[in-house]
Amino acid sequence: MSALTADNIHKAFGDHEVLKGVSLSVERGEVVTLIGASGSGKSTFLRCLNLLEMPQQGELAIGMHRFTFGNGPRTPKDAQLAQLRENVGMVFQHFNLFPHMSVLANVTEGPVQVKGMARAEADALGRDLLAKVGLADKADAFPSRLSGGQKQRVAIARALAMKPEVMLFDEPTSALDPELVGEVLSVIRSLAAEGMTMVLVTHEMAFAADVSTRVGFMNDGIMAEIGTPDETIRQPRSERLKAFLARFHETH
Ligand SMILES: Nc1ncnc2c1ncn2[C@@H]1O[C@H](COP(=O)(O)OP(=O)(O)OP(=O)(O)O)[C@@H](O)[C@H]1O
Ligand SMILES: [Mg+2]
Repeated sequence: MSALTADNIHKAFGDHEVLKGVSLSVERGEVVTLIGASGSGKSTFLRCLNLLEMPQQGELAIGMHRFTFGNGPRTPKDAQLAQLRENVGMVFQHFNLFPHMSVLANVTEGPVQVKGMARAEADALGRDLLAKVGLADKADAFPSRLSGGQKQRVAIARALAMKPEVMLFDEPTSALDPELVGEVLSVIRSLAAEGMTMVLVTHEMAFAADVSTRVGFMNDGIMAEIGTPDETIRQPRSERLKAFLARFHETH
């Protein structure tokens, strides 16, 4: 059964059509990586998957949640949006931790405030998740004392605390110093091994080839090519993707 199906998603900002009918179906336990040039619509598409951006046309199904966009007054209600977002965790390039809260409080805030979880239960969950991302000893630290890689691992633990069915990552390592990239990728890799369903945008091509079940190439607002890493990264079909990969290998 699909964990996530996006069908014919359209999104324009003013008269700038950024997504021109993007479809993607992700099976449970799949890791789908999106690659493509800057401005091709990767982030916008990811943001449409948890409705941080509202598509103007198309359909989205995640778990039990179904949305149809366009054709009249069908804008999802706040309660529906909140339910969807509990099910879809998102990790951004910049971690946006609450600076005035301890690491543990950052992780437990969602379960306590949104789900009404009891504090003791949330703390136990939070400590488990911090251990999972290798930060058991940082529970009481404040974010300002952490490295970028540690902050990003807290952000991942925070997203996991909502027990999402799907995790979205938008360039989770591109704001990090090179020596900190590996520790974040290894957390993502362990989530993949546990069968977490994930969609991620990354420029870490070797990692994408290694961890992904499929790689999608976005080009100018469409999903131009999608297939196994072997197909997409090693045997690209379109000239556009060949050119993108060649440029990529020149600069990395
Ligand atoms: N809120 C917005 N308002 C207006 N234009 C936007 C908005 N968000 C994105 N865009 C435009 O949509 C296009 C696609 O942006 P998007 O961020 O999805 O690209 P991307 O593939 O993620 O690029 P990058 O690799 O640089 O992150 C860009 O031209 C961008 O300027
Ligand atoms: Mg982007």
